[in-house]
Amino acid sequence: MKVPFIDLKRAHEPIKAELLQAFANTIDHGGFCLGEDVERFETDFAKAQGVSRCVGLGSGTEALHLIATAMGIGRGDEVIVPAFTFIASAWFAQYVGARPVFADIDPESYTLNPDCIEPLITSNTKAIVVTHLFGQSADMDPILEIARSRNIKVVEDAAQAHLAAYRGKPVGEIGDAGAFSFYPTKNLGGLGEGGCVTSNDSALLDQIEILRAHGSKERYLNHYVGYNNRMEGLQAASLNVKLPQLAEKTQRRQFIANRYRSGIGHPQIKLPAVVDWGESVFHMFTVQHSERDQLKTYLADNGIGSDIVYPYPLHLQPCFSHLNYEEGDFPVAEMLARQCLSLPIVPELTNEEVDYVIETINRFGG
Ligand SMILES: Cc1ncc(COP(=O)(O)O)c(C=O)c1O
Repeated sequence: MKVPFIDLKRAHEPIKAELLQAFANTIDHGGFCLGEDVERFETDFAKAQGVSRCVGLGSGTEALHLIATAMGIGRGDEVIVPAFTFIASAWFAQYVGARPVFADIDPESYTLNPDCIEPLITSNTKAIVVTHLFGQSADMDPILEIARSRNIKVVEDAAQAHLAAYRGKPVGEIGDAGAFSFYPTKNLGGLGEGGCVTSNDSALLDQIEILRAHGSKERYLNHYVGYNNRMEGLQAASLNVKLPQLAEKTQRRQFIANRYRSGIGHPQIKLPAVVDWGESVFHMFTVQHSERDQLKTYLADNGIGSDIVYPYPLHLQPCFSHLNYEEGDFPVAEMLARQCLSLPIVPELTNEEVDYVIETINRFGG
């Protein structure tokens, strides 16, 4: 049996006709850069996510960049960022000339460890980026408590956390702003690049609407140095087709995760922890094993796709060598980078495929 890690063709096959019809509509009305599909998506995604408002952009990376810009973060400022996340979480600081200050993660949730934040705060700390990694919300209350008393902004990188919640509150506006990605492999993914910002600070979102369109409120009058970060109509059209299925697809991910959890009983494999502040939406189902590379090869030999997300912690990335971090600085992030392996969890997997993954893993090394 072959079990793909991700199979976008399989995901799109049942909705292909609907997607083509949506594209035909966009071609007819001509709203290619922003326009009516984007407006509809912004309204519907905000409603689905349970947040007050959403501004559609070209990618999740652009969302992080524009949040930092609109917050006025810049040269001389410091931003606390988890040492284990996708690189774009750190671009939040780097793109605007601020310094990323890395912090270790919690070994259970794999998200920013609130206990590691306080010693890193200086008078230059302007923001904390919190990544809801692999679909698991971070422990927001202690982080907000640290930030609020010092007037530090909290930015949620929710690129992997569509429909996730923290103690019943939807992610994306628990902090000051949230960044989502609609990259094709995300829980809600378009047919190309896409992203958005969410927030209950409408002045911040108004500013981001201006920044995404060349800093202009009135045509050809540019109040600010802006960017071309508009969401494309065709991407919004594809997201509008997919959004109504997101809740069901998320439940399917959670069902598969539970099946893995009850079925995988390998003594050397550590499963993702269950935390008490909110169920993951399982963008990834990431296990740990001290012989991770052998496990990956063994799964591949048995037809099962898996992925190492992520093999390098951010503080050891060559692009941040000027920050002078060293191996050993963030032991949990480094251990995860050495031991993590993400198993297939896309909603299109059949129960037979999930059971085959379980049986194969349980035989590893036996
Ligand atoms: C945690 C995280 N942050 C930010 C991004 C950036 O999103 P995008 O690829 O849409 O620019 C991604 C996705 O790749 C991500 O996983």
